[in-house]
Amino acid sequence: MIPDTTNARAKTRIVVLISGSGSNLQAFIDARDNRQLDADLVAVISNRPEATGLERAARAGITSRVIDHQAYPQRLDFDRTLAAAVADYKPDLVILAGFMRILSAEFVDRFSGRMLNIHPSLLPKYPGLNTHQRALDAGDNEAGTTVHFVTSQLDGGPPIVQGAVPIISGDSAADIAARVLGVEHVIFPMAAQWYCEGRLSMQDGATLLDGEVLAPTGRTFEA
Ligand code: GRF
Repeated sequence: MIPDTTNARAKTRIVVLISGSGSNLQAFIDARDNRQLDADLVAVISNRPEATGLERAARAGITSRVIDHQAYPQRLDFDRTLAAAVADYKPDLVILAGFMRILSAEFVDRFSGRMLNIHPSLLPKYPGLNTHQRALDAGDNEAGTTVHFVTSQLDGGPPIVQGAVPIISGDSAADIAARVLGVEHVIFPMAAQWYCEGRLSMQDGATLLDGEVLAPTGRTFEA
């Protein structure tokens, strides 16, 4: 008998971009394996050949590619090559999981509304680099992380969900980073799953979740 697939919905195709350790990529792989993420991880692309996340992709049997930004003196040439490579995999969703290159407006516009980033601060605090050290220097008593839609404003796209962690007396930036990563590994696949379920979109510069326009800092995740 031929199975009736008329109502079968194709799984969301996800391409993950990485630059480093890929622990967030691993969280996506684990969530997929545990059926908390109903998606196909179709490819991993790294801008660094030495990224250990590439080994995670290989262990999980996910196709990977390296597009080394150092081979492209012009940023736009790198971006165009990367955009073409991403598009080759026909993604429904692009995940920036510790991808440490600033993307041009041309790239961002091409994948607008279907590209998510995770940034290790409670945005709008501390866009850019060294977020945990900046939180320490400011005497903050909490740090955190934000999943957001990517727009051409660096770390400025509409937030989807934030998770906070305490800063404990004597913490180094590395201590905070480790604590924050634990939250990232929960909320990033969770937000992607909302997208896969058709519950999440970006509209008029805001995040819409279950038909509701979210507050400017997105949902708050409580562990
Ligand atoms: C994460 O902390 C993420 O917020 C930031 O880069 C780090 C990536 O870690 N953008 P990993 O490569 O996923 O382990």
